[in-house]
Amino acid sequence: MGTGEKTDPKRPPRNAEHVAIIMDGNGRWATSRGWPRLVGHRRGAERVREVVRACPDLGIRWLTIYAFSTENWKRSTEEVLGLMAIFARYIEREADRLSVEGVRLRFIGDRSRLDPKLQKMMAGIEARTAAGTRLNLTVAINYGGRDEITRTVRAIARDVAAGLLAPEAVTEALISSRLDTGDLPDPDLIIRTSGETRTSNFLPWQAAYAEYEFSETLWPDFGAQHLAQIVGQFGHRERRFGGVVNA
Ligand code: IPE
Ligand code: IPE
Ligand code: MG
Repeated sequence: MGTGEKTDPKRPPRNAEHVAIIMDGNGRWATSRGWPRLVGHRRGAERVREVVRACPDLGIRWLTIYAFSTENWKRSTEEVLGLMAIFARYIEREADRLSVEGVRLRFIGDRSRLDPKLQKMMAGIEARTAAGTRLNLTVAINYGGRDEITRTVRAIARDVAAGLLAPEAVTEALISSRLDTGDLPDPDLIIRTSGETRTSNFLPWQAAYAEYEFSETLWPDFGAQHLAQIVGQFGHRERRFGGVVNA
C-alpha cells in the first residue's frame, strides 16, 4: 500500500467506479514453488472470478483487467499457447455465470492476431452478456497502449484522407471515442500486483489522471480482501485534475 497519502477523515470516501488491474506475478508465484509457470497462470485465472464477484459491493461499476500484452508474444510458444488456452477456457466456463450475474464482458486489444476460433468465442460472449448492467468487465487481450493509439490514429488518418473528417475535428474527445475503450470511462484507479512499479503499456492515454496503487501481493494470492482494502484507501485520496482543491 502507498504511504503518505493525503487523508481527510471529514470528507466522505469516494468510490473508484472504474478500476483497472495489471495482474502480474503468476510466473514468480509458480516458480518459487518449483512449478511450471503455466500453473501460476491457471491459478491466476481462478482469482479473476473472486475479484469480479467482489466488485459490485465495493461500488465498482467498471473493471478492466490486463490479461495479455502485445509484448507477451515474446514469451515461449508453450507459454503463449498455454495462456491462450486458459483464456479460451475462462470464456467458455464463465459465460453462463457472467450473464446470470449481470456482468457485461467486452474485450480490448487487437483481435486480428488471435486464433479465428477464439475471436468467434469472444464475439459470442460479448453478444451474450451485452444486457448485463451490474458490472462492466473488460479484458485486455493482445492489448498494448501504443498499438491501440497507432491503430486509432491510422483509422482517423484514413477518414481525413478520404475527406470524411476535417483535421480540426480531431479533438481529445474524438480520439478517446475511437480508441478500443471508446465506450468506457477513464479508469479512476489502476492496481498492479507483484511489486513491479511500471505500467507496461497499459491504458497510457486513458490513465492520464488515474491514481495508481502497487501491491506486493502476487496475482495468484490476490483476492477480494486485497481489493477492498485498496479501494477503501482510494476513497481518501485527493484528486485535483490540475486544479486547486479548497481554494
Ligand atoms: C502475469 O504474470 C500474466 C501475464 C503477463 C500474462 P507473469 O507471467 O508476468 O508473472 P511474472 O511477472 O513472470 O512473475
Ligand atoms: C504486464 O505484465 C502484462 C500483463 C499483466 C498481461 P508483464 O509481466 O508482461 O510486464 P513486464 O514485462 O514485467 O513489464
Ligand atoms: Mg510479469
